[in-house]
Amino acid sequence: MSNAALSSEVARRRTFAIISHPDAGKTTLTEKFLLYAGAIEAAGAVKARRSARAATSDWMGMEQQRGISITSAALRFEFQDVIFNLLDTPGHRDFSEDTYRVLAAADCAVMVLDAAKGVEPQTLKLFDVCRARGIPLVSFINKFDRPGLSPLELLDNIDSKIGLTPVPVTWPVGIPGDFKGVIDRRTGDFYRYDKTVHGATIAPEMVMTHEQAALKGGDDYITAREEIELLDAVGSGFDSKPFLAGETTPVFFGSAVSNFGVRLLLEAMIEIGPPPVPRVDQDGVPRSLDSPFSAFVFKVQANMDPNHRDRIAFFRVCSGRFDRGMTAVHGRTGRPYSLKYAHQMFGQERETVDEAYPGDIIGVVNATDLGIGDSLYVEVPVAFPAIPSFAPEHFMVARNKDSGRYKQFRRGIQQLDEEGVIQVLRHPDRGDQDLILAAVGPMQFEVAQYRLAEEFGSPIELSPTNYNIARRTDEAGRDALRSMWQAEVFTRSDGDLLALFPSRFQLERFQADHPGVTLERIVAGVDE
Ligand code: G4P
Repeated sequence: MSNAALSSEVARRRTFAIISHPDAGKTTLTEKFLLYAGAIEAAGAVKARRSARAATSDWMGMEQQRGISITSAALRFEFQDVIFNLLDTPGHRDFSEDTYRVLAAADCAVMVLDAAKGVEPQTLKLFDVCRARGIPLVSFINKFDRPGLSPLELLDNIDSKIGLTPVPVTWPVGIPGDFKGVIDRRTGDFYRYDKTVHGATIAPEMVMTHEQAALKGGDDYITAREEIELLDAVGSGFDSKPFLAGETTPVFFGSAVSNFGVRLLLEAMIEIGPPPVPRVDQDGVPRSLDSPFSAFVFKVQANMDPNHRDRIAFFRVCSGRFDRGMTAVHGRTGRPYSLKYAHQMFGQERETVDEAYPGDIIGVVNATDLGIGDSLYVEVPVAFPAIPSFAPEHFMVARNKDSGRYKQFRRGIQQLDEEGVIQVLRHPDRGDQDLILAAVGPMQFEVAQYRLAEEFGSPIELSPTNYNIARRTDEAGRDALRSMWQAEVFTRSDGDLLALFPSRFQLERFQADHPGVTLERIVAGVDE
């Protein structure tokens, strides 16, 4: 394949995630993207898929009971000749490490905000991850059909809470709850909001030029124009450089449930959303897009389909062209790895993939030895940076309830650890009988407990610990901490030594008494 052909494939790819606080409208917006892309025929399908999926997957029964999405999948769809890889981040109230890892594969994120609430706590935490990874953020202010904050209050909220300069690309006419439409600041066109349209199917849009709208628009239209003039006067027009540098966020207003603003947002993702760029390897050297095939694994999930009990590793292509049946090198082991069973996923459905390009997300079935963070390559070796494990904030002791099923317990714990469902901490003086499970969000424990019982037939008992805070230490730290009875040092499966403390107070007191002891925050930028 020529370099020009590869470049044009790369140029037409957008790989992004949607982040939001639960209920802001992420599922609805995802669904509307799929509707506009023709990937589903009518809205409602994503939720319907959720139930269909629960019917074929028993551990996801929990997902259905709670009406939330615990696992995330990559959805691939095409719109106006552009291939979108939408990374679905779980939408539950808890933070989960899965969400963070998924963001490692994204080039950009859409932040959905509820017009009545502005920036909410979970958005803030996810935003920190985006910032730590340098992921540019597009903001979609949703639910403008309902009463809420004024546009200026919302912009101020983005500015003050997350520290990004908001740059409105569209500007609302009317206030939340009495929404008349938006003006596209780039063209001056007015898109009229029609509240009779409910949005199960694509509705025709009423677009007017400035001249037409000025005749019909009324007072709200005149006010909005004046506001735009003020914005223009302070020079806050969209510029891609500060956006890609993570300094500004383009802002769109709309109402996902009524489809309003969805097309404009998708088109903007084509126009301003970044295509894949060379990924840097662990030494900081970029792997050019036209280098031979390379990819890294960002997610591993076992037992998605209980009829098959298989294990799928999802990887993101970073360079070159992927062809089904190709054999790559598995960076961690140095062994050849056949990619015969590569699929692209649409929710729970699998479709064989014959070729893929940088930015694409692929799932390999029966990937028994691929782990999170592993690199794959052809010809020219590369190792992409490890995906960091996050600072756990919740710690529970796990005990195998049925001593006759110890083997199953060990196997299950190992599997969940490898998938990153929970982190497993061991104390050198105690065996696997008495493990500590560590998580970023407490729901990870429920998932682990459920899966151990359902998939491995190994029920466990979880009991709370006194620990609330973890710091990375070293052997010298382990020795120094022996004298402190409230704190203990455990070994995580990745080999890191984690010192656990009951509270920040105890941590700080220990640090004051032992200034020479290494106690590092676990991940810069996302640690408490
Ligand atoms: P999430 O994935 O971010 O958690 O949010 P989701 O899309 O499930 O939306 C949460 C609720 O907000 C849903 O209502 C949804 O219909 C509603 N919603 C989404 N976008 C808009 C919007 O633009 N305007 C208004 N007014 N509502 C919106 P629900 O009652 O929880 O569910 P449903 O019965 O409507 O499915």
